[in-house]
Amino acid sequence: MEQQILKSSDDFQALLDYLQQKQIRKLFLVCDQSIKLLSLDHFFTMLPEKYQIQVERFSDFHPNPLYESVVAGVEAFRRFQGELIVAVGGGSAMDVAKCIKLYSNMDPSKNYLEQEIVPNEIPFLAIPTTAGTGSEATRYAVIYYQGNKQSINHVSCIPSAVLFAPSLLKTLPEYQKKATMMDALCHSIESGWSVNSTDQSMEYSLKAIRNIIVNMEPYLNGDEQAAAAMLSAANLAGKAIDITQTTAGHAMSYKLTSLYGFAHGHSAALCLPHLWRYMIGHMELCVDGRGADYVKGEFQKLAEAMGCSSAEEAADYISDLLGKLRLGPPSSWTQEKIDLLSKSVNPVRLKNNPVALTEEALRELYQHILAGN
Ligand SMILES: [Fe+2]
Repeated sequence: MEQQILKSSDDFQALLDYLQQKQIRKLFLVCDQSIKLLSLDHFFTMLPEKYQIQVERFSDFHPNPLYESVVAGVEAFRRFQGELIVAVGGGSAMDVAKCIKLYSNMDPSKNYLEQEIVPNEIPFLAIPTTAGTGSEATRYAVIYYQGNKQSINHVSCIPSAVLFAPSLLKTLPEYQKKATMMDALCHSIESGWSVNSTDQSMEYSLKAIRNIIVNMEPYLNGDEQAAAAMLSAANLAGKAIDITQTTAGHAMSYKLTSLYGFAHGHSAALCLPHLWRYMIGHMELCVDGRGADYVKGEFQKLAEAMGCSSAEEAADYISDLLGKLRLGPPSSWTQEKIDLLSKSVNPVRLKNNPVALTEEALRELYQHILAGN
């Protein structure tokens, strides 16, 4: 089912219209405490008295949400008899809301993770507060059960509607703004060269790339129209990775994030140009069934969408951009760190990459990433 897109100005009239049109009387709001900094908070506060719409808030979760929090959320949703789930946020609020939606009509006496998913028609509205993760467009969620990461993957947890409210991005710290924007750019590029790419995913990727490049500067300067375009581009990039998943760039970025405390998009963007150059130079290791020439053609399309004439130029463009945005590599590194990073990459995640990467290749790549050359 096509995701409904709502575009809202400061007054959130589009959101009110949506609620009234769907005749919602009980709204279940999944959000973290940061909602208090947003004008949207006031909107939800006035709904009961002014529009007779009851709002139940659920904020009892943390970053890297636990399965137990999801269970508590499902219980709260059932008790409240919610008619609509609204998720406000980026990562964890969206992940928790996706799981609540997924599990809300399943058997509460058994572990949800072990049950077969029974799809439901509960309306689910996502309101992203960053322009980057694209989580509002994907079937993926991550939660933790007994210390282990659980990757949830079901089409039924894709939000049925999304609200783009560019005014919500105003309070985003500058570093987060840059990093999330680069995350969206990495999603579109990695999806474009993924072995799982399709005509449809490529269309999303190329459109997202063009819109990110064109709107980057005004967006970072606080232009609201550019912020609206960036929300839409991040959503398209999310739709692209919903089809293809990400590739080696993302797989390599996770340990970089935990080791150096970088934002996710910062780490992913640090890996991408080096990975791209490596692939250009090692097309004999192409594993995409459509062949090396096909992948080279995809590289060319991605480069042109960025306004570059070749893939080499596009990789350099990203390196330059990171320099301009002051999203640099760590100030120091050691051989031990390189060993740690090279061993951290999940080989399963590398399978989407069009060019094979050995542990030796990963080591070489991390050397370049950390040294920034
Ligand atoms: Fe990402």
